[in-house]
Amino acid sequence: MEGLGKSYGEKLLFDDLSFEIRRGNRIVVLGSNGSGKSTLLKVLTGEEQPDTGDVAWAKGPGFVSYNQMLADLDDADTVSHAVNALPDSLAFSATRKSVNRFLAMFQFSEADLKQKIGNLSGGQKARVAMAQCLLSGASVLLLDEPTNHLDMSSTQVMERALVHFPGAVVVVSHDRFFSEKIANRHLVFGAVGAAPGEIDVRAA
Ligand SMILES: Nc1ncnc2c1ncn2[C@@H]1O[C@H](COP(=O)(O)OP(=O)(O)O)[C@@H](O)[C@H]1O
Ligand SMILES: [Mg+2]
Repeated sequence: MEGLGKSYGEKLLFDDLSFEIRRGNRIVVLGSNGSGKSTLLKVLTGEEQPDTGDVAWAKGPGFVSYNQMLADLDDADTVSHAVNALPDSLAFSATRKSVNRFLAMFQFSEADLKQKIGNLSGGQKARVAMAQCLLSGASVLLLDEPTNHLDMSSTQVMERALVHFPGAVVVVSHDRFFSEKIANRHLVFGAVGAAPGEIDVRAA
């Protein structure tokens, strides 16, 4: 990310922001409400264009948006189908047994796998979307407040998945407990002493 800048009208969200995302980075994005965290994630995914600067992704498996996965879940689908029928899913080349073992780590029993997405709790849907993200083969996971309204055990599943993810993670979170476990880098909007639009990029 090189020289990124974005304003809405008079409101400057970020200016001349440069950083790299590298394998093993788990970047937690912090800042008050309305500071521009979600907009930054949208600029990374290409949903929003920056006013200045460029986003360049390395060739290869690319990124996946957890929030997009969650939004795209089909209520009429079963858990098992949602995970197995994902385009380019790593599940294609795995045995059913190993996929089920993988899903057991997301706390889905054999019986749960036959459930319709529409009948799942918020925590269960979150875990389906996270499982899909990991099976997508993407090398970067982008997540905007993934633990909002999640139960404790689903939050722990998310935490573990992110900490053990072999690629890179960029996650916006207000949940201190969660983000302290995940973060090895921080991107901080409006750090003390920062100029408007200045983002502090630092190690955790
Ligand atoms: N599409 C948009 N058009 C105009 N203003 C926007 C748009 N998206 C966000 N904003 C404004 O930009 C600011 C930052 O929003 P956002 O990135 O959602 O903040 P955060 O995620 O940090 O809470 C807010 O003041 C919000 O109202
Ligand atoms: Mg937001």
